[in-house]
Amino acid sequence: MPELIRPEIETYAAAHSIAESSVCRMLREETVRTMECPQMMVGPLEGAFLKMMVQLTGATRVLEIGMFTGYSALCLAEALPEGGSVTTCEVDDRSAAVARRYFAQSPNGHKIMVKMGPALETMRGLTNHFDLIFIDADKQNYADYYRRSLNLLSSGGVILIDNVLWDGDVLRDPPPDARTAAIQELNRLVSADQGVTAVMLTIRDGIFVVRPKYSRERSDR
Ligand SMILES: C[S@@+](CC[C@H](N)C(=O)[O-])C[C@H]1O[C@@H](n2cnc3c(N)ncnc32)[C@H](O)[C@@H]1O
Repeated sequence: MPELIRPEIETYAAAHSIAESSVCRMLREETVRTMECPQMMVGPLEGAFLKMMVQLTGATRVLEIGMFTGYSALCLAEALPEGGSVTTCEVDDRSAAVARRYFAQSPNGHKIMVKMGPALETMRGLTNHFDLIFIDADKQNYADYYRRSLNLLSSGGVILIDNVLWDGDVLRDPPPDARTAAIQELNRLVSADQGVTAVMLTIRDGIFVVRPKYSRERSDR
């Protein structure tokens, strides 16, 4: 896990936030036990934050870029009203198999639609708009995910972007690798975008909360 925040502080904060469901807890435990990079999961505190964002925005249509074993998708679905939906993108079959097993056990799993394949291609094929978009896939494509998300956002919608502090490596100059450089580029892009308001939160590994100031032509990006 990224440890920009002391682990015991994160545990304390999670314990005083929206509780993790039992299905999410079992999914998290299996992911830690069986998957190679379980730290990719958002975990209980950021999961509670995602739920709060669904509630605050009144979102009914959510798009997630990067599902992994489904922890964040399930958190988002749990916060949605009946009739709401999470469309989530993933390339890895093994991760998706774990996710589908837990979605089947959850009373909210039917709200989740899994789209297998590269997310940029999936996004190109989407025709409806989304109230909340959570970007959490491969970092090299972050700037493209951001640009496409602006086009897919409904009026008043919000984009959340995970790992924008990248374990503190965003401070390094020159960047140590391509992924760090991609996150630095994304952070510059968002903060220079006159069309949005944004706040970078230091929750876990950093979350950008981005909201367009006005509705824009969707074809200009
Ligand atoms: C950080 S993990 C997502 C974690 C997830 N949001 C959670 O909290 O459990 C990133 C995921 O994005 C997937 N991914 C990587 N490149 C992708 C792409 N081009 N399109 C869709 N998914 C991709 C990876 O397989 C991985 O499962």
